[in-house]
Amino acid sequence: MFQNVQLAPPDPILGIGDAFAKDASPAKINLSVGVYKDAAGKTPVLGCVKEAEKRILATEASKGYMPIDGSPAYNSAVQTLLFGDHEVVAAKRCATSHTPGGTGGLRVAADYLKKNHGSLTLWISDPTWVNHESIFQSAGHTVKSYPYFDAATNGLKFDAMLAALNTISAGDVVLLHGCCHNPTGVDPTPDQWKQIAKAIADRGGLPLVDFAYQGFAVGIREDAACLATLLEKNAEMIVVSSFSKNFGLYNERTGAVTVVTADSATAEKVISQIKIVIRSNYSNPPAHGGLIVTTILTDPALHAQWIDEVKQMRERIHKMRTLFVQSLSDRNVNLAPAGNDFITRQNGMFSFSNLNKTQVQALKEKFSIYIVGSGRINVAGMTEANMTPLCDAIATVTK
Ligand code: LMR
Repeated sequence: MFQNVQLAPPDPILGIGDAFAKDASPAKINLSVGVYKDAAGKTPVLGCVKEAEKRILATEASKGYMPIDGSPAYNSAVQTLLFGDHEVVAAKRCATSHTPGGTGGLRVAADYLKKNHGSLTLWISDPTWVNHESIFQSAGHTVKSYPYFDAATNGLKFDAMLAALNTISAGDVVLLHGCCHNPTGVDPTPDQWKQIAKAIADRGGLPLVDFAYQGFAVGIREDAACLATLLEKNAEMIVVSSFSKNFGLYNERTGAVTVVTADSATAEKVISQIKIVIRSNYSNPPAHGGLIVTTILTDPALHAQWIDEVKQMRERIHKMRTLFVQSLSDRNVNLAPAGNDFITRQNGMFSFSNLNKTQVQALKEKFSIYIVGSGRINVAGMTEANMTPLCDAIATVTK
């Protein structure tokens, strides 16, 4: 049966990590996968996470199964994190389920939609995170794209984006990045969010927000403002949370899917269907990451510590952006005709650098520097120590 199976290509993001691991060069630098590193180049366990784990270990009395949709305390904490004191929480209009990471949440959303609403059309930004298309196609949906990134300005192609959203059909799903757009780092302004919300509502579409970087643009609450804006015009919405980045829980696979419905009775029906989807997939979620998040979000001191630790990560990334621009300019390297300032205007972990495929390949082959083929560089992996070899190498490959 298996002999005629074809060799699949490596994953465009996680596959680079495998190639990096095999590279014997002592000078190698990995700026591919979106993982935060501290000034010493290590991916830290947050202090609040360590403290939460101590408490969990001290009190844990069982390894019994989780409920299919996760613990009520976790799901409630997720809703507060997303919506604060918005009416959708008090009115019990949210159906939230704990999922294995944001990827798991997206797949649960995709499977729920397919099973209950049929094969839909999902609109993704051009470009978007490489896994979006695969997840929704695997679940049986049709994927189309709307214009997003403007290579001429390194900004948002907003008019074209809005024009495309104004052509969608009722029942289409529009995937948006809540903040820190992956891979471009380019986010809509608050006023543009209002126009996006209106366009989707006018056409009868459903917003689906991939919210993997809450806290990495401006702040935890500030970054969630787009959700309230979408809710002003749209009674229904799906939000997928990931706690890989903002809690540093990458390998704990901790996330959630939240379906906002028009009323609480509908939310109850939706969660019952989500449970069916989960049960036939992975049965129920892994507990540990969810316990950590719940412990932190429900303890005022740990919560405050977490906000501070997210701020430190965000500020270090901003510092690296500034240093990157400075270091490029010192070498007379301009990654765009108008200079490098676009890099400091981008939000989140990534810089969409304008480096082309040949240059990306040369960085790997000549300097053992690994970035994603689209030219996406993980700024959160830059340090003062790797900035000089990185910018020297970019200067060489762009000459
Ligand atoms: C990334 O884009 O690098 C991250 O979201 C990790 C992943 O799963 O691709």
